[in-house]
Amino acid sequence: QLFGEQRQNSQGIATDIESEWQPFEQQVSQFLGNHQWQASSIIEGQTQSGEHHLITAPYQRTQQVGEVKWANAEQALQAINVAEQGCQLWQQTPVSQRANYLLHLADKLEQNMPELVALCHREAGKTVLDSIDEIREAVDFLRYYPQQAIQHFSSPMQQRSFRDEAQHVSYQGRGIFVCISPWNFPLAIFIGQISAALVAGNCVVAKPAEQTSLIAARCIELLLETGIPKQVIQLILGNGALLGQTLCSDKRIAGVAFTGSTPTAQAINKQLAKRDALPVPFIAETGGQNAMIVDSTALPEQVVRDVLRSAFASAGQRCSALRVLFIQEDIAERVYSLIAGAMQELAIGNPEKLCTDVGPVIDPQAQTKLQAHISWLEKNAQLIYQVALPEDCSKGSFVAPCAYQIEDIAQLTQEHFGPILHVIKYQSNQLDRVIDQINQSGFGLTLGVHSRNESTYRHIEQRARVGNCYVNRDQVGAVVGVQPFGGQGLSGTGPKAGGPHYLYRFAKANISTTLA
Ligand code: NAD
Ligand code: ALA
Repeated sequence: QLFGEQRQNSQGIATDIESEWQPFEQQVSQFLGNHQWQASSIIEGQTQSGEHHLITAPYQRTQQVGEVKWANAEQALQAINVAEQGCQLWQQTPVSQRANYLLHLADKLEQNMPELVALCHREAGKTVLDSIDEIREAVDFLRYYPQQAIQHFSSPMQQRSFRDEAQHVSYQGRGIFVCISPWNFPLAIFIGQISAALVAGNCVVAKPAEQTSLIAARCIELLLETGIPKQVIQLILGNGALLGQTLCSDKRIAGVAFTGSTPTAQAINKQLAKRDALPVPFIAETGGQNAMIVDSTALPEQVVRDVLRSAFASAGQRCSALRVLFIQEDIAERVYSLIAGAMQELAIGNPEKLCTDVGPVIDPQAQTKLQAHISWLEKNAQLIYQVALPEDCSKGSFVAPCAYQIEDIAQLTQEHFGPILHVIKYQSNQLDRVIDQINQSGFGLTLGVHSRNESTYRHIEQRARVGNCYVNRDQVGAVVGVQPFGGQGLSGTGPKAGGPHYLYRFAKANISTTLA
């Protein structure tokens, strides 16, 4: 178990995965037999009919996990109609009451942790470590945004005034927010977007990724159990292009919160621009071409630990994951041999086993795309190491973690969302060129730096155009309320999720001026 040792719980207390896992293990296994889940779109609290789609486990494609009913465009419009009816009531609901529903949901997620962990394994192929982190992050969002809203949105805030006037600013929801989320954080990002929109006073139409509709639907069921008004939250399951287009071309929507790939964000942006309406807030958190720069003063063992976690944890399926390691030539060969040695220790396989470090990728389509890139690397790059896949991985969508030395970051024209590490050597006098090349990729999500020279890492931090820069540690796993997360350029619009500015983008400000 390579990735479990460096953990902190949500209070920042050091812990290990085994002691966190023990209380749940037995209960999770009850859901792992042949348990089947069912999910449908939910409009005004009612489950909807739709075309049936089977969900199978990424680890073992013959393992059926459940069935999802996909909505059509008409149902998506119906969801907007219902949300429209809920707006006035919800805007008038006190912030503390809105917050209470979400806090209640946080408790419910914790109470239902075994089932949700089982769903993370089965539907999303997440390891034990990633599944627990997934639910913890969802809970963190559900406690952080309400706390922020209570602090900043509860009562009008007094502004600086002159003469005998009093100025107050108050924040209100904008109307209907469409929340579109990816499969790689099927609970955390899904409910993170929704909770921010709701607590700020908006009604939500949520459209999760096709691959992870079951866990999303379970979460909305639990949310409705809190007694939240039924017009306030609508769930629409199904084809992203079709439903996304319907939702994002509607004149009545007041904003879109999207997390997913850069091309999809660009498609939504065009869709929004075509509407016969003024622009609305479009929050897009997208992909990355994330680099790590390692100079010759870095501690090799620490570098290897952080490279492995950043590149291969979650099978490389994190937007924050390391894709391109820039390593100073003087130490490159030594670090390569350490990386190869550490990669040999990675346990690949069944994500339901505590000992597994790297599980499957999400689906056969992702596997095919990643294999095509590996074939390209085999012809155009130099292999550093590739893990041999155990035999039972042939039943699922696995990609063998690998590291290749390439010549230039410009050879990578898109994000490769899986366990593939690219490595580039640089000379000591080329540091600024390296930073410029990273900037020229256009992406700007995470950057890792390993150096014991403070002037070097401060210089890199200043010059690199990225959202989150991590020095002398790994570059994944931003913590809600601690490391607000989000990129720039092709990686996102901001404001950073899990940070103090996020809620404001979901709200409109009203100023009242009163002559005393
Ligand atoms: P995706 O872009 O394929 O899909 C994301 C969501 O958009 C899904 O719900 C999908 O159904 C929907 N969708 C697809 N086409 C649409 C359209 N035309 N209009 C509206 N909605 C549409 O992304 P994915 O494969 O689900 O997720 C992986 C991607 O997400 C990676 O690029 C990753 O880097 C990115 N990501 C970014 C962050 C971040 O915080 N920056 C976090 C997680 C994932
Ligand atoms: N917020 C996630 C991370 O930091 C994507 O890895």
